[in-house]
Amino acid sequence: MEVIGSVGRMQRQAAVWRAAGLKIAFVPTMGALHEGHLSLVRLARKRGDRVVVSIYVNPTQFGPKEDFARYPRPRRRDLELCRKEGVDAVFAPSTLYRSDASTRVIETEKSLGRCGRHRPGHFDGVATVVVKLLNIVQPDVAIFGQKDAQQCDVIERVVRDLDLPVKIVRGPIVRDRNGLALSSRNTYLSAEEMEVALNLPRVLRAVKSKRQMTMRQRERMARERLRRVKGLTLDYVEAAGAYLCAAVRVGGTRLIDNVRITGNG
Ligand code: PAF
Repeated sequence: MEVIGSVGRMQRQAAVWRAAGLKIAFVPTMGALHEGHLSLVRLARKRGDRVVVSIYVNPTQFGPKEDFARYPRPRRRDLELCRKEGVDAVFAPSTLYRSDASTRVIETEKSLGRCGRHRPGHFDGVATVVVKLLNIVQPDVAIFGQKDAQQCDVIERVVRDLDLPVKIVRGPIVRDRNGLALSSRNTYLSAEEMEVALNLPRVLRAVKSKRQMTMRQRERMARERLRRVKGLTLDYVEAAGAYLCAAVRVGGTRLIDNVRITGNG
């Protein structure tokens, strides 16, 4: 497995693979890899001849009061997991931004509402770094987790609007045995906070099962139930297409989740 730190080297490696007719499948991450990420890597393996994982904690998608500094960075463990999964190259730059960079990618519809309302500028940072990563890795397919549903919406729109030659694939949410969606931020939770956090998937599951309810009724019910949970602060419950999405805060940890609402529940 190649571990590549420079933009030029990654671009050259991608060009060599492409010239040989090999299909590149790409999983962008911020590291602190868990089973959710590894499931995306396995999807990538099925979709491409070469698999690239990027590991980069992107500063521009964190707000000034967010957890950029304490975001977990278990680099050796991440590389070991990638090696075990048969990843061909890990792109792990120390920085991706020039000090005088003056260009940003701003999506102006899908990034509104939900997390966009609670994390101003977050999706500008995501869109900008993802476009940079796609230009560097030059993948045929890029795989993102459905847990970050709004991120997927924003990226799909950016790729469409900018005619980027890449197919975006969503990988399903992976949950722990108690139903909590896997996230690198789950490691921040104490045992008591974990108990509180489990109310998020529990409530989403409960409203998903209400077959007779409209999306609006489910939204309202989830909001009411989550507001009643002690130790949990609700950021939002909001429908987006077929998905009911929610974000909560437990202690200092922000958690997001979503469920697909189908016609009959
Ligand atoms: O989902 C993430 O881990 C990040 O938002 C991404 C897509 C790697 C961009 O930094």
